Amino acid sequence: MEAFRIKGGNKLQGTVHISGAKNAAVAIIPASILIDGTCRIENLPNIQDVNYILEILQKMGSVVNRIDDNTIEINNTGINTYKATDEIVQRMRASYYLVGALLGRFKRAEVCLPGGCNFGERPIDLHVKGFQMMGAEVNVSDTFEAHAQRLIGTSIYLDQVSVGATMNIMIGAVLAEGVTTIENAAKEPHIVDVANFLNSMGADIKGAGTDTIKIRGVSGLHGGTYSLIPDQIEVGTFMMAAVITGGDVTVENVIPKHMEAIVAKLIEMGAQVIENDESIRVIGPEYIKHTNVKTMPYPGFPTDLQPLIVSLLTVGVGTSIVNENVWENRFQYVDELRKMGANIIVTGRTAVIQGVPGLDGSKVRATDLRAGAAMVISSLAAKGETIVYDIKYIDRGYEFFEDKLKSLGADIQRVNI
Ligand code: EPZ
Repeated sequence: MEAFRIKGGNKLQGTVHISGAKNAAVAIIPASILIDGTCRIENLPNIQDVNYILEILQKMGSVVNRIDDNTIEINNTGINTYKATDEIVQRMRASYYLVGALLGRFKRAEVCLPGGCNFGERPIDLHVKGFQMMGAEVNVSDTFEAHAQRLIGTSIYLDQVSVGATMNIMIGAVLAEGVTTIENAAKEPHIVDVANFLNSMGADIKGAGTDTIKIRGVSGLHGGTYSLIPDQIEVGTFMMAAVITGGDVTVENVIPKHMEAIVAKLIEMGAQVIENDESIRVIGPEYIKHTNVKTMPYPGFPTDLQPLIVSLLTVGVGTSIVNENVWENRFQYVDELRKMGANIIVTGRTAVIQGVPGLDGSKVRATDLRAGAAMVISSLAAKGETIVYDIKYIDRGYEFFEDKLKSLGADIQRVNI
């Protein structure tokens, strides 16, 4: 099993380049099923989840040409099945975008139920409701099955802000008849990116990034070239790595507007943050001040950075409270931080963190992708050596993670244990 061996204590220094957004990539690739022609996707992160979704499409008949680490050309003309039931489909959450894409193209989809990180119940009722309202008959058992004679645009209100349901319905509506309106839509940067991708291939989507998205159905999409936005969560991860090690890191290939909630919190915690057009420099404070955090859909503080900010607060001065408002059970990793000496009490969706003077190296597990990143940044600040097991989760979503950290001066090795 692969693990990271990390010796803590080095202050991170230097410049790090951010990769393309994972959660845009894993939607854009399935969405390309709607396109008639070849599509060139640039700034694609070279991560396990992207490789999984490409493998799924290739098994269905798509032709993928890897131009370099971060560029592919994909042509899906050869896909002639509406079924995505390969075992890999179950490994990732984002495979539900195959339903929107296949339903859009073939008016029929049968897709294995999605897997992905486990932080409590991950329902898909809003996806189902959206497709049903557009005229599809939907059955969810071992597979997510949907079919329609005609897909017809309508107004769909999401009872809860959902990234997945917003994107899936948007993808499904691109080739539907008439206008589909999604109300109470999610506003994450990757939603805008998926809409921009589809629009650049001929779709007619307006309002992405606001809570009302209007999709006017078109008769077909053409090929083209698209470059993904930088990964907001990877940016936040390196900003926090700078803070927890008391370092000085410039994170480049960034859209600073996407980082407002994170920048505000890090400043409250004593960090110095200097924003430029496409980069952010973060200088860690002498000591981290306590603060309170509530995770929210964008533009709120992202749930995907919750484990990382908790890591910072474990070595802060004073007591901090973190409320998790998106996922019902996203504090499973705190047992791992406790092994390093963190003082955290979790009650339901709330964590109370009493800062300690320092963490100690230990043996910990990555319980999911972002929790894994949290273990790594905690280890960078801990005294002595830490082994982080189960780094397969980290490989799902961070490109060249240990290489990037090493280039900033971290003492981190990938080892076989
Ligand atoms: C996406 O998951 C991301 N995954 C997650 O990132 C991220 O944590 C999440 O959005 C929130 O930002 C991908 O993009 C692949 P949701 P998603 O639908 O789309 C409830 C990471 O670490 N809900 O926005 O599955 C749900 O229970 C991953 O990169 C319903 O009730 O999340 C949750 O409470 C992990 N019914 C809330 O909405 C539904 O039909 C938000 O979920 C769908 C969701």
